[in-house]
Amino acid sequence: MSDRERTFVMVKPDGVHRGLIGEVVSRFEDRGLKLVAGKFMQLDDDHAREHYADLSDEPFFEDLVEFITSGPVFAMVWEGKDAVAQVRSMMGETDPAESPPGSIRGDLGIDLGRNVIHGSDTEPGSAEREIDLFFDDEELIDYERNDETWLYE
Ligand code: RTP
Ligand code: MG
Repeated sequence: MSDRERTFVMVKPDGVHRGLIGEVVSRFEDRGLKLVAGKFMQLDDDHAREHYADLSDEPFFEDLVEFITSGPVFAMVWEGKDAVAQVRSMMGETDPAESPPGSIRGDLGIDLGRNVIHGSDTEPGSAEREIDLFFDDEELIDYERNDETWLYE
């Protein structure tokens, strides 16, 4: 199906420390998205700067790099119908305080700089760039969920 796509998602250090990896993974599993890669890791400075390169001129950039490298993250690739937009919608707004209840940031966070989760934005090429930055091709696993015929018409 042509609308199946992959997106990059990461539980940030605050989410890992707060024990929210399982909660975040469950939400995407329950939605019907398919996990195709996952890696528990700690970002080094270069990796963080490259990941957030488009924000390098922002005044908060150094704080962001310091925070995202401050502890472990859980990096993932999720696949499904309109996955990039669906994940962004499930995440809520950038600021948890402005995110609706029911969204990940709206349910699990309260402050802009501690917003639990990263997901690729909807700019063309963002998801592919981030997947490539975190995963080798052989780490992406092709398989069918055995409920796929019940998730998709
Ligand atoms: P992310 O990339 O982490 O998924 O977040 P996002 O797309 O919702 O927001 P983005 O604009 O890409 O910003 C990346 C992260 O930088 C922090 N931020 N701080 N102080 C500020 O005004 C400000 N703006 C953004 C947030 O933690 C945001 O997740
Ligand atoms: Mg972003």
